Amino acid sequence: MMWYQTKASEILGIQYPVLQGPFGGKLSSVELVSTVSNTGGLGGYGAYTLNPQEIVEVDKQIKAATSKPYNINLWVSDTDALDGTVSDGQFKQAQQLFKPYFDELGIDLPEKPAPFKTRFENQVEVILHQRPPVFSFTFGTPSADILEQCRRLGIVTVGAATTLDEAVVLENAGVDLIIASGFEAGGHRPSFLASAEASTIGTFVLLQLIKEKVKTPVIAAGGIANGKGVAAALALGAAAAQIGTAFLATDESNATAIHKQMLFSNAAKYTTLSRAFTGRLGRGITSRIAADLTHKENSFLPFPLQTQFMSHLQKAAIEQEKWDMILFWGGQVAPILKYTKAAELMKSIIEETAAYFDHLKA
Ligand SMILES: Cc1cc2nc3c(=O)[nH]c(=O)nc-3n(C[C@H](O)[C@H](O)[C@H](O)COP(=O)(O)O)c2cc1C
Repeated sequence: MMWYQTKASEILGIQYPVLQGPFGGKLSSVELVSTVSNTGGLGGYGAYTLNPQEIVEVDKQIKAATSKPYNINLWVSDTDALDGTVSDGQFKQAQQLFKPYFDELGIDLPEKPAPFKTRFENQVEVILHQRPPVFSFTFGTPSADILEQCRRLGIVTVGAATTLDEAVVLENAGVDLIIASGFEAGGHRPSFLASAEASTIGTFVLLQLIKEKVKTPVIAAGGIANGKGVAAALALGAAAAQIGTAFLATDESNATAIHKQMLFSNAAKYTTLSRAFTGRLGRGITSRIAADLTHKENSFLPFPLQTQFMSHLQKAAIEQEKWDMILFWGGQVAPILKYTKAAELMKSIIEETAAYFDHLKA
């Protein structure tokens, strides 16, 4: 058996057990997904902010750009706001806490938005209709009915766990593959049982805990950016590795030029888990706002109202080039990134992993 012939490669129908992690918030691109899938890995598109029609369009574009398997990703739970809103008092509190930053940028505080309506049910209808080869999800488990329909339609299902308890829930629900999402990772912590703060486990510990108790093949995610990392994950029993930050930094991703520049800069040595920008815990390059507002989480708005609130501030900060007020998503591994072309990154990952296993045999 070659190193790349794992349970995950077999189930996903791909050559190499390397997944490009999906990025929500419009940071994914069809070009990145198809580049990774066309070079033998599994490209992934984060679609949780898209409406059903947009997901149909994206799916058609990916199908036109690759004949290989790919993944579309949604968030099962996409709001923490009761009835989609907060009380006027709660909103005022957030306004007061963030007022100095809006003042600094010379912009008005946003008004309270209309109640947020969950989108998952309508989005998942599109998945069942368009049938991407792989459907991955975070923040929970879809209903038994949805999982059964995926099975019937031949859509491979992939759930994300941040603790052993979550992996057990996903296994019992019958998902095909489980992502062990370590807290080194860039982006949101997709915890769905205990709080994200109480679920901060490193990738390689989480992977080993899950391997002890769970039979479903596991994909390691968080802190992996090259072939040595993939080899280490496989050595610890992973059936594949999912790589996010290293692909986010490539030309093909939909991140802005300044975001990519930041990921390759000295600033990327310092990352923080914070709820300040979206209301859910996520890792990005340390910003002044995240640092200032540690322990003020009680005054933040619940997800995604905090995202909507902060989007006004983010827009103005970008226009005024106040980089220390912007959240640049990224994981702890960013300082070792080397590649700006996704195909070169893939090639290097595969060659380096192969070299490691060849070396073992020699
Ligand atoms: C900007 C950004 C957005 C992300 N959005 C999602 C998402 O919507 N859904 C998801 O399952 N994972 C998401 N992730 C997680 C990645 O798919 C991947 O698991 C993670 O980045 C791996 O860790 P690494 O960044 O250390 O490579 C996101 C990661 C980043 C950096």
